[in-house]
Amino acid sequence: MSMARDWYRSFRRRMIRATRRPRVGAVNLGDLDRLTPVSRDWGFDRGQPIDRLYIERFVARHAKDISGHVLEVSNNDYTGRYGGARVTHSDILHPDDGNPRATVIADLAVPNAELEGRFDCIICTQTLQLIFDFQSAITQLHRWLKPGGVALVSVPGISQISREDMQQTGDYWRFTGAAVKRLFAEEFGEGAAEIEVLGNVLAATAFLQGIAAEEFDEAELFEADPQFQMLTTVRAVRQKVS
Ligand SMILES: C[S@@+](CC[C@H](N)C(=O)[O-])C[C@H]1O[C@@H](n2cnc3c(N)ncnc32)[C@H](O)[C@@H]1O
Repeated sequence: MSMARDWYRSFRRRMIRATRRPRVGAVNLGDLDRLTPVSRDWGFDRGQPIDRLYIERFVARHAKDISGHVLEVSNNDYTGRYGGARVTHSDILHPDDGNPRATVIADLAVPNAELEGRFDCIICTQTLQLIFDFQSAITQLHRWLKPGGVALVSVPGISQISREDMQQTGDYWRFTGAAVKRLFAEEFGEGAAEIEVLGNVLAATAFLQGIAAEEFDEAELFEADPQFQMLTTVRAVRQKVS
């Protein structure tokens, strides 16, 4: 009975929020009527940033792909958390010697014969936007996988700039689902990549402000509206015959 009541309340709230339109000049911006964001730290100081919730769910859904020899960018957090005992060897990629945890120093945008065909899985979350030649990076992702290997990738759409990455490597690009679909089809082949686009106007506004995922009803954050693309995820498989 109470579950039905909760569902009805949540449904009613969502219907009101989906259809109510303030008059011109009478929009109440409340706490968002400001020139600085609620959090400059993506929401980490309030809870989990909304893009991290999306990424975590994506990686968790494909946990079985995280097995054998796994390469992850910058750290091996997702490898450890979701790969567990399936992982036989975990490598961390960084483009220079500035990351003491890195075990593979290489630029993802530059061909590297030693790394070709080496990995069963590459976890490349929130990285392609930092690489000016992102097309070459997608080419290397494909080449560095073993045949049958899987790349788990995420890229930002509507998002603030990463100040830290802007200083270190540059923060160059934001992607739409349509672009990602074409880019991965060109490299991995038609049908080899599953693409999902996440976000809606509420999630995107909240994410820009740094309001954390816990501050919302999760179902609302996962109601995708293709007009407000916050994040695109890709699961791409290197075909065995390529
Ligand atoms: C925002 S982190 C992304 C990875 C992290 N695991 C995550 O999910 O947020 C940015 C990292 O991308 C990596 N990176 C940036 N440019 C790169 C390049 N050209 N080649 C390889 N790695 C690069 C660096 O290790 C940098 O720390």
